[in-house]
Amino acid sequence: MKFQALRGMQDLLPKQKATFRVIEDAAREIFSSYGFQELGMPLLESTALYKRVVGEATDIVEKEMYTFDDRNGDSLTLRPEGTAGCVRIAQQHGMLFNQVQRLWYTGPMFRYERPQKGRYRQFDQIGVECFGMPGPDIDVEVLLLCARLWEKLDLTDDITLELNSMGSAEARAGYRLALVEYLADYKDQLDEDSRRRLTSNPLRILDSKVEATKAILVDAPKLADYLDEESKQHFQGLCQMLDSLGIAYQINPSIVRGLDYYNRTVFEWVTSALGAQGAVCAGGRYDGLVEQIGGKATPGVGFAIGLDRIALLLDQKEKGENYPEVPLADIYVVSMGDESRLNAIALAERLRTVYPDRKTLVHCGAGKFKAQMKKANSHGAGIALLLGEEEVQNKQVTVKFLNTGDQETIKQDELVDFLALRSDGW
Ligand code: HAM
Repeated sequence: MKFQALRGMQDLLPKQKATFRVIEDAAREIFSSYGFQELGMPLLESTALYKRVVGEATDIVEKEMYTFDDRNGDSLTLRPEGTAGCVRIAQQHGMLFNQVQRLWYTGPMFRYERPQKGRYRQFDQIGVECFGMPGPDIDVEVLLLCARLWEKLDLTDDITLELNSMGSAEARAGYRLALVEYLADYKDQLDEDSRRRLTSNPLRILDSKVEATKAILVDAPKLADYLDEESKQHFQGLCQMLDSLGIAYQINPSIVRGLDYYNRTVFEWVTSALGAQGAVCAGGRYDGLVEQIGGKATPGVGFAIGLDRIALLLDQKEKGENYPEVPLADIYVVSMGDESRLNAIALAERLRTVYPDRKTLVHCGAGKFKAQMKKANSHGAGIALLLGEEEVQNKQVTVKFLNTGDQETIKQDELVDFLALRSDGW
């Protein structure tokens, strides 16, 4: 029997992992430049936390969590998202009262969803959460931060911003009544999911992808008409700031988000390049959440980027634009026999100290001289260093420039200076 990865669990091979690293490095640099600090969070939390924070009637809690009892009989859940854990940490460690926080985190999340391109059961998010700032200014800051990341990854033309306001809890309750009343007349024509949501989570019906349901929704009451005055002002303030800063956006009234904690600003950065899984980053405000889990009222706003989806976008672009292959080695050290292998390893160590940014590979294992040279070429190396018996005896090394075929035998002691002088050749 051969073992296979579990359904929806991606194996990231080195090339894919390198793409993830590019995204994470870019994010790390940008988050730091906006004054955000990194947080490390457990993969496991109590199931009760997610029920409370994400919401009992959400798809995530109803049917997507990896939940199990530990040996003590406590119900635990593999984190399906990061906001709940982050809020729990901030509250537990006294980071909220009379303070502002700008935090970020990255790592795997787990949801038992139906896998398809861009949708996995284990996926990586980079998330940001801010606490203690009630105005639209911080909403703008987090959106600018995203825009800068797309720019750095050369994805500005591929991703657009969609915004909505979900108002206050009271405003939503009023709207919910109106929506349910309207939809009740069409109950039999709604799809099965939406019919179920009519009692559990009616706002989520707005998000339906089913054409017949979408048609019914065209004349449904609009959340925007039910917004409270303060939420309206908040949203206007946000839109005005985005306009003056030149950040393009579209208002999309059907963004209601799949998690229960949001109020006021909600947003999604979307692409048309990934088919059905077009949301590459999503988030919004959650001003009532800290209080809901027993803390003092603290405004919050954040988002999470789906790393897997950004990586897919970058990969698609790469194919289109024919990016050059990154070499596996810059210097490949070829040697024959035990004594010269030891010399090769010692020489490579010296080079790694002097050139920590270059990749120096020592040929390990058997292999005739010719086969080793072939490997040097297939690794994309600029230089092969050759250590035959004669070289080792004379404390010499032959440097071969693989692009031109030029080669020269020099003293090993002179190698570092020699390579520095010829740095244009490799
Ligand atoms: P979310 O919309 O559930 O929000 O997820 C955020 C992003 O994670 C999505 O836009 C998508 O790019 C990615 N994502 C979600 N599920 C999957 C999946 N199954 N496979 C691949 N990628 C996926 C949250 O998680 C909130 N915690 C965001 C937030 C933070 N709101 C405020 N602060």
